[in-house]
Amino acid sequence: MSLPAAPPLSRGGERVRRAKASLRRLQRRVYRIFAKVVYRKVVMCRLEPDQSIIDFLMAMPLDPCKPTIEVLGPDRYHEVLGSSPQLSAADLAHFDKQESLCVVAYEAGQIVASVWFTHGEVYVSDLGRTVHVPAHERYSGRAYVHPDFRGQMLMQHLGHAHRKLQPGMRMWNLVYASNSNVLAALNKIELNLTGRFSTTFILGMRFAKDEEFDPQPLSSVSTI
Ligand SMILES: CC(C)(COP(=O)(O)OP(=O)(O)OC[C@H]1O[C@@H](n2cnc3c(N)ncnc32)[C@H](O)[C@@H]1OP(=O)(O)O)[C@@H](O)C(=O)NCCC(=O)NCCS
Repeated sequence: MSLPAAPPLSRGGERVRRAKASLRRLQRRVYRIFAKVVYRKVVMCRLEPDQSIIDFLMAMPLDPCKPTIEVLGPDRYHEVLGSSPQLSAADLAHFDKQESLCVVAYEAGQIVASVWFTHGEVYVSDLGRTVHVPAHERYSGRAYVHPDFRGQMLMQHLGHAHRKLQPGMRMWNLVYASNSNVLAALNKIELNLTGRFSTTFILGMRFAKDEEFDPQPLSSVSTI
């Protein structure tokens, strides 16, 4: 049964509706300006597996998988450009200054997924600053899977390939607590929450805070 159509608003009612809509737009604009100019805090959480999971993963063979996985060094970074909307030429220049590797998945000659692994003074654009990643650790970032290839655990395959390539490295991810897809993907390999990185922007100044804490289950991400 279809619902009866709402009666048309009177001219006065229409004016009130429009006034409310413009007020909401104004509020959003004021909030954006406030967040850009006055105050904004970006918080990302650090996630990594515990040793029992690493041992379990290392015992698993690296099955040949379709799409094909390849590891790209600096001489082939340019191939990744254009395959992820989250990656710019400026990002590549940052990776180029560090010892980075990009693990990619190829399908029919096209890159359909990529993850970067890097260390040193790593520029994390979301935080607007560099984060120090010691030589025995790897920061895994900028994961991207083409929408047609999502839901096949391709991101985890790329991570596994890297783990096999550089065994013994402490590998971690920095993600927004609100990125439910990446949290769902990482939860499948039972990652723990082990730290929090934040940048507070106040009137053009930046205040950084990096914290490390005892491993907590991924469900605690909602409370950080
Ligand atoms: C996050 C991302 C890398 C996950 O890669 P993936 O290989 O698809 O990972 P998974 O197969 O484990 O899927 C993870 C979750 O994505 C969602 N998902 C599954 N299929 C999907 C599809 N076709 N389209 C969109 N999302 C899908 C599901 O919630 C899934 O969890 P579930 O399997 O428990 O339901 C991918 O979604 C992506 O590239 N997102 C945009 C970029 C991004 O957010 N990167 C992370 C930066 S740190």
